[in-house]
Amino acid sequence: MRLDRFLSNLPRFNRQAVRQLLASGGVRLDGQVSRDGRSEVSVFSRVELGDGEVLQAGKRARYFMLHKPLGVVSATEHSDHRTVLDLLDEPDKHELHLAGRLDLNTSGLLLITNDGQWSRRVTLPESQKPKVYLVETEDVIEPVYIEVFARGLYFSFEDLVTQPAELQILAPRRARLTLHEGRYHQVKRMFGHFRNKVVGLHRISIGDIHLDARLAPGQYRALTAREVAGFARD
Ligand code: URA
Repeated sequence: MRLDRFLSNLPRFNRQAVRQLLASGGVRLDGQVSRDGRSEVSVFSRVELGDGEVLQAGKRARYFMLHKPLGVVSATEHSDHRTVLDLLDEPDKHELHLAGRLDLNTSGLLLITNDGQWSRRVTLPESQKPKVYLVETEDVIEPVYIEVFARGLYFSFEDLVTQPAELQILAPRRARLTLHEGRYHQVKRMFGHFRNKVVGLHRISIGDIHLDARLAPGQYRALTAREVAGFARD
């Protein structure tokens, strides 16, 4: 919400009082004087008056990376399986949500946060941030896959052609695949085009956030400020 709207929603200020207050430099947003009524206020913003009175303390934004193990479902609740949230030992877990998902039988990097705007930026298909996967397949990965994945594949369900993806063949049945979007079961469907079953799938990075090699499956850590900033608003 805009700062001027936030202030005028408070019973004590009318619109004119808000304009004067802002113009006089009487409002601090996240510690800085803000005269611009169009500044964005979220639940994480701290809003104070010049005399130090706190109008909104601002919730703490929380960001984590988890090494998702196999067999744990990417959901916050599930009747049959353990969920990734069950792996976190954090207060107020119900406030957290997943910034993207991995299939039950996929392991690797999963991002978890309470910041909805941040997670939207992570998951937007148009964000173009590379997501890198290690893939193991049942059959041999032929060089022709490289060209086909780079050209894009038609997904009839969504009626779209996938963004160019980079495939690096590491061994006869092992490859590194870089996607620039995140469609449903995308990796399995791309290999499915060649009737080659994915038997192992592991995500190693999203944008500049790399799965920390010190994290064993099931372990997690808070993201650093730099990792969070990789998905900051432009
Ligand atoms: N593509 C898939 O097919 N599965 C995943 O879990 C992630 C990407």
